[in-house]
Amino acid sequence: MQYIAALDQGTTSTRCMVFDHNGNVVGVDQREHTQIFPQPGWVEHNPAEIWQRTQGVIAGALAAANIEKSDLAALGITNQRETTVIWDRHTGKAIYNALVWQDTRTDALVRQFAADGGQDRFRAQTGLPLATYFSATKIRWLLDQVEGAQAAAEAGDLLFGTIDCFVAWWLTGGPHGGLHITDTTNASRTLLLNLTTGDWDAELLEIFRIPRSMLPNVRSSSEVYGTCRGQLDGVPLAGILGDQQAATVGQVCFEVGEAKNTYGTGNFMLLNTGERLVQSRHGLITTPAYHFGKQPTWALEGSIAVTGSLVQWLRDNLGIIHSAAEVEPLAASVADNGGVYLVPAFSGLFAPHWRSDARGVLVGLTRYANKAHIARAALEATAYQTREVVSAMAQDSGVELTALKVDGGMVANELLMQFQADILGVPVVRPKVAETTALGAAYAAGLAVGYWANPAELRANWSESKRWEPQMSSDQRDSLYAQWNKAVQRTLNWQE
Ligand code: G3P
Repeated sequence: MQYIAALDQGTTSTRCMVFDHNGNVVGVDQREHTQIFPQPGWVEHNPAEIWQRTQGVIAGALAAANIEKSDLAALGITNQRETTVIWDRHTGKAIYNALVWQDTRTDALVRQFAADGGQDRFRAQTGLPLATYFSATKIRWLLDQVEGAQAAAEAGDLLFGTIDCFVAWWLTGGPHGGLHITDTTNASRTLLLNLTTGDWDAELLEIFRIPRSMLPNVRSSSEVYGTCRGQLDGVPLAGILGDQQAATVGQVCFEVGEAKNTYGTGNFMLLNTGERLVQSRHGLITTPAYHFGKQPTWALEGSIAVTGSLVQWLRDNLGIIHSAAEVEPLAASVADNGGVYLVPAFSGLFAPHWRSDARGVLVGLTRYANKAHIARAALEATAYQTREVVSAMAQDSGVELTALKVDGGMVANELLMQFQADILGVPVVRPKVAETTALGAAYAAGLAVGYWANPAELRANWSESKRWEPQMSSDQRDSLYAQWNKAVQRTLNWQE
């Protein structure tokens, strides 16, 4: 009996999962890594720690499944996207910590590049607005700030990669012949990939002064790239997908018009637009849904920076809960939000606003408000932000959503899921296998080695486990959402 392993290197933890042919999880291990916040707006990870955790969870998952590496038909990688690592190709040592996708230190650089041509000057080539979120300005910052880095990069001594690329390089041999590769979904998040040619854009590399020699080869999301060395010696590495694209595959959103929304550290909704590369006019981004075979399948994405991480913030920074699970009973202990709105613009605002300068606000406080109202406001913020993205999708695509497929850690929260259905006015649907991100990476790898025959076969593994129907009147829905929009306005231009 053979299995497929998926490595999910996420923002707060690294997981390895082993799946069988029916998509059932037969072994799992997960470990957190340190979140480093050196200054307001700065978020870093230690790449060496990430590589250590990776090896740890692979060993842990094989042990939990009670199998050997020889029982694996293939390995797939999925990962937090955009997070930027630059390392020495001879030693594997990173020149600095990884700059995480949430990091806003490059705000001034973004403004500088946008001064000449505006925030959307690269949208036609890349599908993205200029924002701190994407890798290009992070690479620029590292090459500027680390002494000697630009010269070393130009001499061909440094490599850049998003986390998939960094981990793939180590898994396939590191300094001893490791593959320097990434897939289209990850490459598309750098602000350096030309979506039409599927390769790095020479003009953008020149504008950002990034030597091509430090960039990985861009490959499809599902093919045998090579074999692992060391711990997984001989196992084919056969799938790479950014985590949100992997969840899209895990939710089998293979048809035009199918969408999923993942509730993780942030929320990311992707709508399959098929062979059509749709440019957003309402603040979404254009991104590959996955790249199987010759051409990518495209998607519109609504990226929200802070949702699940707001619950962690209530726990770690405010201390009003002791564990993330406490947020639901606390929020449910009051009948409504008591007029309190919390807009978590901690990394600025992503879709549909794209304002790196926005900062979080808590509004509507009275002497009546207590921590339960704040907990409720925090959960509601996730649902309101999702509604903003769903509205933008409807405007861009002309298609009204009939149901929302959800996954990710926060979908265990009944209060939030009910409120989500209420505030959208459409049902919210959760699948049986909620581990869609790892599953999607396993699917990509399994398709490449013939473990699964085709995407249609994967549909059989998807089934609904729960559905929340909207119960709120449309008047109430509209009035709450109008209040939310007023609160969002308070996050903008607040320093002026
Ligand atoms: O774009 C960032 C995204 O890939 C991070 O996902 O699940 O770690 O919140 P997650």
